[in-house]
Amino acid sequence: MDKLVIEGGSPLRGAVRISGAKNAALPILFASLLHSGKSTIRNLPRLADIRTTTMLLIELGAGVSTAEDRSVLIDGSTVHSVEASYDLVRRMRASVLVLGPLLARFGRARVSLPGGCAIGTRPVDQHLRVMEAMGATVEIKSGYIEASAPKGGLVGGRFVFDVVTVGGTENALMAAALARGTTHLENCAREPEICDLATALRSMGAQITGDGTSVIVIEGQEALGPMNHTVIADRIEAGTFMAAAALTHGDVLLTGARMEHLDAVVSKMARAGVEVRREGEGLRVRHHGELHAVDIDTQPYPGFPTDLQAQFMALMTRASGGSTISETVFENRFMHVPELSRMGADIRTRGNTAFVRGVPELHGASVMATDLRASATLVIAGLAAKGTTEVRRIYHLDRGYEAIEEKLAGLGAKVERRAQDD
Ligand code: UD1
Repeated sequence: MDKLVIEGGSPLRGAVRISGAKNAALPILFASLLHSGKSTIRNLPRLADIRTTTMLLIELGAGVSTAEDRSVLIDGSTVHSVEASYDLVRRMRASVLVLGPLLARFGRARVSLPGGCAIGTRPVDQHLRVMEAMGATVEIKSGYIEASAPKGGLVGGRFVFDVVTVGGTENALMAAALARGTTHLENCAREPEICDLATALRSMGAQITGDGTSVIVIEGQEALGPMNHTVIADRIEAGTFMAAAALTHGDVLLTGARMEHLDAVVSKMARAGVEVRREGEGLRVRHHGELHAVDIDTQPYPGFPTDLQAQFMALMTRASGGSTISETVFENRFMHVPELSRMGADIRTRGNTAFVRGVPELHGASVMATDLRASATLVIAGLAAKGTTEVRRIYHLDRGYEAIEEKLAGLGAKVERRAQDD
């Protein structure tokens, strides 16, 4: 296992290329299974979660050839299995997104239940209920979801999600694309990654309208053709670099980042005194002087993303005054708080709310995080802290941030990856 060793205090300066969005790439890779031939997907980030997904596609029998230029060619004609094993699903919860495509194309799927998760219980009930609304029979047996479509395949239906769920909306979109008749989905998630999945599905011939709003209508097709798609830039990676640039009083160009996907974040940044503006093919982030305290509460898109809550909290640890941060999407998503406190931050939590009082300085420490975004937060804090910070067990980071230490070093940070001995 590796750790990152960070010598804090250097302002980030320069340009960094934002990678393809992990959370768009994952469903899009699974969606390629809806076609019985070859599909091309470009701008994939180089991440552990992407490798886990391609391993799962290979386990199902698909042909997968990845190229140096970040594209992948997937051949769905050789798929011979409809089972996603526990071994792969436990590594990545998003593996449950294989359910919709398998059920729609083969009429059957056996997918391991994801099991516990560090950021709350994260049920998949909505994924299962929407499949039932399309006529599927769903049972849980020995830790597996066993689903089968009626004779002749899934049928279009109407479904209102009980909660706004990104993965549930994606699974439903993929399944409905091959169902007989029309599917109306209501109370859908509106994230840019859902729109990117819909765009990828449309490149296969799917008929989808309303993505990006809470009502999506899908006219099911008898068959879909090859997918040809380029994945959008990762707004969460962009937001993470934004927080890092701001906290180190830096000046960074985020190449490829899109303002329209980051409105809620940019508006909070502006209130904190951070300048973010469009420049060329990306966004330029600058900060000097004092940071102002700003309150946030996380919400489904277009609200402030839960995946940037921890990074924003790192920023607030150095603001003048107190800020209140409420996490409304996931329970138990404050695992970064005790670690930030060890670096000198002043944070108290009550239920799903954190009260952060800015301090004049953070100091380096040996820290460890148990989820992806919390790990990124400790890296950001380390960049701004006085002295040396060791961020341990960084495999979480490698799941979601491509070559983070190389990108940060390219911006002038003093950061090194080393083997962790214990
Ligand atoms: C996705 C993102 C994740 C992000 C999250 C919220 C991917 C691969 N992951 O996760 O990075 O933090 O959206 O923006 O895209 N829920 C239910 N029943 C369900 C499904 C969800 O109750 O069947 C609840 C969850 O417990 C959670 C809320 O709905 O409280 C939102 O979860 P959801 O949007 O489904 O998150 P993911 O798709 O898992």
